[in-house]
Amino acid sequence: MKSKDNMMKGLNNDLYRRELSALLKSSALINSSLQTTDVLNFAMKAAEEFMEAEASSVFELDSEKGEIFVRLARGEKGGFIQARRLKPGEGIAGWVIQNGEPVIVEDVQKEGRFSDRFDKETGFRTRSLICVPLTIREKTVGAIQVINKKNGASFTEEDTELLTALGQQIAVALDNAKLYQRLEENFKLTEKELKFTQLKLIRSERSAAIANLVQGVAHEVRNPIMSIGGFAARMKDGLGKDHKFRKYLEIILKETSRLEKLVEDVKELSEMQTVYLQPVDMNNLLLKVISDYSPIMSRQSIHLEEDIEEGLPAITLDRAQISRALKNIIQNSIEAMPMGGIIKLKARAVDSHIRIKVEDFGIGINEDELDSILDPFVTSKTTGAGLGLTMVYQILMNHKAEINIKSSGGKGTIVTLDLPLNLKSEMEI
Ligand SMILES: Nc1ncnc2c1ncn2[C@@H]1O[C@H](COP(=O)(O)OP(=O)(O)OP(=O)(O)O)[C@@H](O)[C@H]1O
Ligand SMILES: [Mg+2]
Repeated sequence: MKSKDNMMKGLNNDLYRRELSALLKSSALINSSLQTTDVLNFAMKAAEEFMEAEASSVFELDSEKGEIFVRLARGEKGGFIQARRLKPGEGIAGWVIQNGEPVIVEDVQKEGRFSDRFDKETGFRTRSLICVPLTIREKTVGAIQVINKKNGASFTEEDTELLTALGQQIAVALDNAKLYQRLEENFKLTEKELKFTQLKLIRSERSAAIANLVQGVAHEVRNPIMSIGGFAARMKDGLGKDHKFRKYLEIILKETSRLEKLVEDVKELSEMQTVYLQPVDMNNLLLKVISDYSPIMSRQSIHLEEDIEEGLPAITLDRAQISRALKNIIQNSIEAMPMGGIIKLKARAVDSHIRIKVEDFGIGINEDELDSILDPFVTSKTTGAGLGLTMVYQILMNHKAEINIKSSGGKGTIVTLDLPLNLKSEMEI
């Protein structure tokens, strides 16, 4: 027959188990490390009180390094060892984790597996302890430990049973916290990617909508502009050299030729929707672009420093379009250095891309303008239509390529293009 004392203890024991179990279940998805610490702290405090002990700890196995992390250390000197590490197999906790079995130590002085490293460092004196493994899906992932019964008594088998039950709940709680953390990290990444894709989508939708509208208008105004320009030229020819209307006609001619160029650019942009893919020798393409530009560059006192990897892999693309994109980028760099200067052109095969970098040391772009420069009709120039980079963007989208523009006002600009080596398979996705 059980004594009254034992019966009381049994009842308390049950109550304690039920309470702890309810507590840990209610926090089944611990969603922050702060909450995890709170729950562990509460559970271990309850274990200490129930066993009338002085201190307790929770250890977690760092499976990558094999080391043991002190997740929680309660008691007088707990603060000193919290977040410290034990070597694999070190001390009683190390043994318990390696062997997956609970241990009761009545007197640590007589226990060879005990490590007094932390006691020596903190001045705490461990006399007796109980340590049980934390197991999840049959793998030991850590241990919990309760230290020094206050009245000098020994830990009992009943304590082991109780701590084992508590350990099961704690192991699940820790596992959930880790799972949650992983989910959260993945989610953060996806959120970033989503935002990027969304921005891209908005840009292309907006560009397509504006381009459609403008193409319609351009088509309508094309003929009238040609007529105005043509008649103005004939009138100018028919007027005497000093006629007072001559200068007005010159303005009309200048403006109509600007409008004609705009209409041409818009037409060209609309034609960019169709791609003619073919295998292209990139070294050859880049050298051709450079040679086409060299007379313009030498006129503008611009020196081009080329750093093109030899034997770049052949790549499938629309040769005319990619050449056009590079020319628009180089043209912008030239225009950014009206007094001349250096443009660097670098090309490398990087992973699954050919990376082309065009760098200039011109006037640069202010940060608040960087976001909009790919949009149509955004220009800081009196002569530009603001369509050059819109065209570049359209071409790169056609090639599933990426563009990155870095610039600081007054210092210069770096435009990086990543062209996929295997565009064909990318197109099939
Ligand atoms: N390398 C660069 N350095 C400084 N500013 C640049 C550079 N590239 C682009 N920009 C800025 O971005 C704007 C948009 O460029 P984009 O090529 O689309 O149009 P544009 O050059 O103004 O006109 P267009 O190319 O149609 O003749 C430019 O007006 C300029 O303000
Ligand atoms: Mg331009």
